[in-house]
Amino acid sequence: MPLSSEILFQPFSVGSLTLPNRIVMAPMTRSFAPQGVPGPANAAYYRRRAEGGVGLIISEGTVVDRPASRNDPDVPSFHGETALAGCQGVIDSVHDAGGKMGPQLWHTGAVKGFQTEWTPDVPVESPSGFDAPEVQRGVAMSDADIADTIAAFAKAASEAKRLGFDTVELHGAHGYLIDQFFWAGTNHRTDAYGGPGIGERARFAAEIIAAVRAAVGPGFPIVIRLSQWKQQDYSARLARTPEEMAQWLEPLVAAGADVLHCSQRRFWEPEFPEVDGDEGLNFAGWAKKLTGAATISVGSVGLSGEFMSSFTGEKSTSVGLDALVKRMDRGEFDLVAVGRALISDPQWVEKIRSGEGELRGYEVTALGELV
Ligand SMILES: Cc1cc2nc3c(=O)[nH]c(=O)nc-3n(C[C@H](O)[C@H](O)[C@H](O)COP(=O)(O)O)c2cc1C
Repeated sequence: MPLSSEILFQPFSVGSLTLPNRIVMAPMTRSFAPQGVPGPANAAYYRRRAEGGVGLIISEGTVVDRPASRNDPDVPSFHGETALAGCQGVIDSVHDAGGKMGPQLWHTGAVKGFQTEWTPDVPVESPSGFDAPEVQRGVAMSDADIADTIAAFAKAASEAKRLGFDTVELHGAHGYLIDQFFWAGTNHRTDAYGGPGIGERARFAAEIIAAVRAAVGPGFPIVIRLSQWKQQDYSARLARTPEEMAQWLEPLVAAGADVLHCSQRRFWEPEFPEVDGDEGLNFAGWAKKLTGAATISVGSVGLSGEFMSSFTGEKSTSVGLDALVKRMDRGEFDLVAVGRALISDPQWVEKIRSGEGELRGYEVTALGELV
């Protein structure tokens, strides 16, 4: 193994989960589960990443049991007998290859599908009926809708545990439902789920986490994915200072989240350079420092360009991991998620470990099939 990447191959434990290395496959929607049911091709796709040495696989977003939880008919469901049987096939296949995996549990809120004009046959739902600031879409959720959604996340998490998954990740990032509650631009509620402070707007997520914890019991690791940026506005910030970040994250950890998956488009960007300089801690670094929870960083690891630009055709070439390793060596965060590099190449982790084999770049055409 090249000396420089040793830290990536140290084991890591959280709760009942022990990982052989620090590399996580980032959740990536592939829209290859017709009618929401994953099949043998999906299972084989994830199995190849387990065989290629990925420490922890987080699945593509899989939707919870609400009438408008999806924005694409071909993303997997994490409810219903047929879809869950498909999910069972996925986790069995990954375990068979020695891998560890958790589903990413998702509700798309008021956000339109990325690759399709499809819409659910009931109105989309969000905290206040907004997809983005000033952009109305669908309906505001009632108290009963909120309670049912919280229960749907908890039910999906208990199904994940029952099927044998090793963890669950809640998708609280990128402007989807949970993030629409965090974001003042889309949460105008005046009840207990809204308010001027990020701590108040974190209540919905905290209640989901508490319900998930009650459903899965102690020890089973709960991950929540978070981002300052939104697909609706790359410059959006939920926390403008470390104090605000603590108000946002502390209730989530207190409610039972073990791991904060801190999504950035470029992992090397410092979160609060005005506090600790241009080489300062990134989002995952600050999240760990403020809460003491384990954190995952992500964003353009091993690639030259970032992922949102990749959808409009920007090609990325393979780049070295020195900047990443430097941050991990200083203990800034615990795990790192890798997205597109693992779409291009199921053997990416093994190539990094051995230092052998040519690393591939990434371009959007790679999404055409499940390699
Ligand atoms: C095709 C594609 C689909 C994605 N789908 C999801 C998703 O379902 N859930 C999620 O949290 N992030 C999703 N992302 C974001 C990735 O998890 C990751 O954060 C992003 O690609 C940055 O990592 P990378 O630069 O290593 O690709 C997706 C990214 C891509 C490229």
